[in-house]
Amino acid sequence: MNYENILVETRGEGARKTGVIRLNRPKALNALSDPLMDELGHALKAFDADPGIGCIVLTGSEKAFAAGADIPTLLQHDFLSAFNSQLISKNWEHILAVRKPVIGAVAGFCLGGGCELAMMCDVLYAADNAKFGQPEIKLGVIPGGGGTQRLPRWVGKSKAMDMLLTGRFMDAAEAERAGLVARVIPAEQLLEEAFKAAETINGYSAPVVALMKQLTNQAFEVPLTEGVKIERGMFHAVFGTHDQREGMNAFLEKRPANWKHG
Ligand code: CAA
Repeated sequence: MNYENILVETRGEGARKTGVIRLNRPKALNALSDPLMDELGHALKAFDADPGIGCIVLTGSEKAFAAGADIPTLLQHDFLSAFNSQLISKNWEHILAVRKPVIGAVAGFCLGGGCELAMMCDVLYAADNAKFGQPEIKLGVIPGGGGTQRLPRWVGKSKAMDMLLTGRFMDAAEAERAGLVARVIPAEQLLEEAFKAAETINGYSAPVVALMKQLTNQAFEVPLTEGVKIERGMFHAVFGTHDQREGMNAFLEKRPANWKHG
């Protein structure tokens, strides 16, 4: 597939590298058009399938991660065409099928569908100029990419309502206080820090990383007791791997582990 709305590259020195995807529609502040979302889904799937890739960094520009769904495209729809074309669904949730960690590195505007896409990443790092918001109410609509569902889970009901009902933006410091992002980083160091975290993750056992991601995301889907039971079963299962013995032996022998990813 030829990419026209995203830039894709591979980073890192180790055996497992980082797949980097940059949203790249600068004239529309990376508004998430259908072609862009098709390309994003394709690139995510390709990195996920590549055994040489440990994790993925998803980012935008310094000015915008993404300013939302593409408003001119939305305006072309009525109810039936929105319903029949599966607007904001058919190509929006490919990211949720990715088994490798996706680190969202957010600078500038992260609004509407942009914020919804960011919330589908596994970890979020924000540049100090990042601005988050669900301003759909100003357009006479509600969010369609999970904003009313994920935002309250991430920042709590009161702050989510405040943002959804007023359409106001939240800066990076507030996003960190609210638990929406893991860290705030000076804008010029954002990618470097995201790549560093990715390198660290790339250095661990791949199935353990994948399980960690799956179980942590599952915490938002299943009741607590059930989730802990599933975790316990998986914990027992990792004792069937080479990497469990290798990790623990390496610790006792005071040497780096030599993972076989199995
Ligand atoms: N879709 C398409 N184009 C967009 C866009 C979007 N979501 N957001 C910005 N653009 C375009 C603007 O139209 C403008 O294009 P032109 O230069 O051709 O006029 C260009 O990007 C730059 O934007 P501004 O001139 O507005 O830049 P600014 O710095 O003055 O303001 C902004 C930046 C505050 C982000 C403002 O552009 C804005 O409010 N954008 C819309 C944000 C929004 O409402 N997002 C929600 C979309 S609906 C949605 O996402 C539904 C869903 O749940 C999936």
